[in-house]
Amino acid sequence: LVSIIAIDGPSASGKGTVAQRVAERLGFHYLDSGALYRLAALAAGRRGVDWDDETGVASVAAALDAVFAGERVWLDGDEVSTAIRSEAIGVGASRVAALPAVRAALLARQRAFAQMPGLVADGRDMGSVVFPHAGLKIFLTASAAVRAERRYRQLIARGEPADLAAITAELEARDARDRDRAVAPLQQQPDALLLDSSGMDIDSAVAQVLDWWQA
Ligand code: CDP
Repeated sequence: LVSIIAIDGPSASGKGTVAQRVAERLGFHYLDSGALYRLAALAAGRRGVDWDDETGVASVAAALDAVFAGERVWLDGDEVSTAIRSEAIGVGASRVAALPAVRAALLARQRAFAQMPGLVADGRDMGSVVFPHAGLKIFLTASAAVRAERRYRQLIARGEPADLAAITAELEARDARDRDRAVAPLQQQPDALLLDSSGMDIDSAVAQVLDWWQA
């Protein structure tokens, strides 16, 4: 049986980094489900398909020619590792992720990541929809102020322009959009353990997840 750890949570909660490190420590595969929504938004944009065109984006998502290798991602043979991380594509991802047909089109692709010996999956609906039978479900969060600060430092480190007030506003808007949508709304599931990383560094968060897994 494939072991699955589902880590859900809001934007910039650190779930990507925590999930990747837990996967490394356990020798498990890793699924960055947000990257699939980002790829769908990017692919739609490149094909001139509007982000609100549910049928159009769903068919782009179903036919996505994507390759993952570690931190790197290719779309239609083009490396898009940096392109999918832009704020504009983040907004596009959250728009296309609100469309039920797009989520349905990406479901089988996400489940295909569940391979021996195990998988750590991060996103918004890993524990609720994609892997409801996951052996461990975690809701990883942090205060909006801490998350905005982390995103700000990430952008500065990448040499990109960053404005803390604008980042905070964008983060809160994205939280609201992810929380208020009809499909896969962002919220802690009753069977998920809460991990608030506000006053915690990455190593401590990783250690907590491993503790729970080994318990
Ligand atoms: O962590 P961050 O919000 O920067 O990005 P992400 O995890 O790559 O997700 C980008 C967007 O995709 C989010 O705002 C969500 O709306 C959406 N998403 C989703 O709906 N379901 C998932 N399982 C993962 C991401």
